[in-house]
Amino acid sequence: SWTMHSFIEANVQAIREKVGNGKVICALSGGVDSSVTAAIIHRAIGDQLTCIYVNNGLMRTNESESILRFFRQKTKLNVIDVDATEFFLGELAGVLDPEVKRKRIGLGFIKIFEEEAHKIGEVQYLAQGTLYPDVIESVSFRGEAPIKSHHNVGGLPDVMKLDLIEPLRELFKDEVRELGLELGLPEEAIYRQPFPGPGLGIRIMGEVTRERLEILRQADVIVLEEMRKAGWYRKVWQSFAVLLPIQTVGVMGDGRTYEHVIALRAVDSRDAMTADWSRLPYDLLGTISSRIINEVRGVNRVCYDISSKPPATIEWE
Ligand code: XMP
Repeated sequence: SWTMHSFIEANVQAIREKVGNGKVICALSGGVDSSVTAAIIHRAIGDQLTCIYVNNGLMRTNESESILRFFRQKTKLNVIDVDATEFFLGELAGVLDPEVKRKRIGLGFIKIFEEEAHKIGEVQYLAQGTLYPDVIESVSFRGEAPIKSHHNVGGLPDVMKLDLIEPLRELFKDEVRELGLELGLPEEAIYRQPFPGPGLGIRIMGEVTRERLEILRQADVIVLEEMRKAGWYRKVWQSFAVLLPIQTVGVMGDGRTYEHVIALRAVDSRDAMTADWSRLPYDLLGTISSRIINEVRGVNRVCYDISSKPPATIEWE
């Protein structure tokens, strides 16, 4: 559209003036905000931009692979990738408290990101996909990329002393999507549901272990497959599985089972500040439930979360 076209022109110009010959780094998550941020900055300054993708081991099934394949095959971005799975799972061992999990993941991310920035050397700018809702709700909004979460703390890590470039600061998510399409990003990148920085780490209630990650991944991939198949993936803001920290009794054949519970969460929203649970068709809920119970070993019960935000949040932690 004309508006997006002139938005791009103005921003490209402003980024060029600000950056000059400097170097910019950007943390890519695979999500629409950081992808669009990288795309517009790349349009302005090309290879003065280096993107860093950190796999924290908390991604959905095959997601890191597919994100990296996408950037390498479909964009001209210069992307460094770091597999920090071992490090993050180590940081999370024995941690039950949701806020401690978030802190460890956030700090871990900064540490890894900073190491990579040092290897690049002489970086002056940090690009972030901050949106308008993040700006106005910056105190209470939990949905921040981890890198932003310590801005007010003394003794800042080096990457946070960098000058910020935030080209999306005035936009809502639907406008970011429009911008991304205008910049030539394919629909698969644009219509990806939001995914939190701490990933599956905050969708596993209680301790994050490899075994529990595996259960959640298997359930989650079924949710996404069935949502897509039924044409509901794009109709909702987010849809995902959560692994609960309890076991419940069930029956199989003539034996008693005592296994895990998966909660399904699907919400409608414009900007994540408020949300309502999605009125998914019963048949779709039924299909998802029976597939999870039949196909995911160790799960014998599925529940649907019918809470709105507020007073609940979208994520469970
Ligand atoms: P809540 O759970 O606060 O989530 O209703 C609002 C939106 O933000 C996402 N979210 C995050 N995104 N880092 C992120 O990048 C985070 O730490 C984080 N926590 C929540 C959540 O998925 C929802 O879209």
